[in-house]
Amino acid sequence: MTEQLQDVGKRLAGRYAADLVEEGMVVGLGTGSTVLFAMERLAERMNEGLSLCGVPTSYQAELRARTFGIPLTSLAECCELDLAIDGADQVDPSLRLIKGRGAAQTRERCIAEAARRLVIVVDERKVVGSFSAPVPVEVISFAVPLVASRLAGMGGSPVVREGVSKDGPVITDNGNWVIDCTFPSIDDPDALETAINTLPGVLSCGLFCEFAEKTTVVIGEKEGIRTLMPRYSRGLCE
Ligand code: 5RP
Repeated sequence: MTEQLQDVGKRLAGRYAADLVEEGMVVGLGTGSTVLFAMERLAERMNEGLSLCGVPTSYQAELRARTFGIPLTSLAECCELDLAIDGADQVDPSLRLIKGRGAAQTRERCIAEAARRLVIVVDERKVVGSFSAPVPVEVISFAVPLVASRLAGMGGSPVVREGVSKDGPVITDNGNWVIDCTFPSIDDPDALETAINTLPGVLSCGLFCEFAEKTTVVIGEKEGIRTLMPRYSRGLCE
């Protein structure tokens, strides 16, 4: 799939998700290129009269939201969100996710937890039968060698993420490091998520399995969008 086609899919998915936002909602604003299309559409809808308030998941989301003129609040002011719109790196058929390419998974997890509904926007390349992407893990710097050793003990190949246009490790918005851990296969994502997230020193890994029940995945394709919802869901708009 070419870069341009990916962008078409991302744009369609982002704009569709923004159209799900209703008057007066408090909306979690995810990180990444696909959510930017949602923010662009939210700004258009605000020009047409929509009121909303956003809670950003990263400095990137905060800066972009300010550029688009989206009013912001924080979890300190409001920890019950109507909806969160976020991206993902991979989505499996059970609506489980790998997130964290942008190293924002810890705040994204907080926002997903606070939101009543989670709308994940992706292009079709992200939808997989089973996970193959590296799992990003945010770790306090003190614990990086320990966590890397434990991840290797789980069968993974851990690599500390290095900066681009910055020498040395990536430092997250929370001041921590990121380990990207590749596994030969991920047969039980729920168990792996729990095992990683309970290692001392880990803030959050990028496996998001526990939100599937409230997740809608919007997949942007060349000719339009399709959605994946939990099997017993009565639909996002109900
Ligand atoms: C950041 C994320 C992003 O949501 C994810 O990487 C998707 O990004 P993009 O929409 O640019 O493909 O998890 O931590």
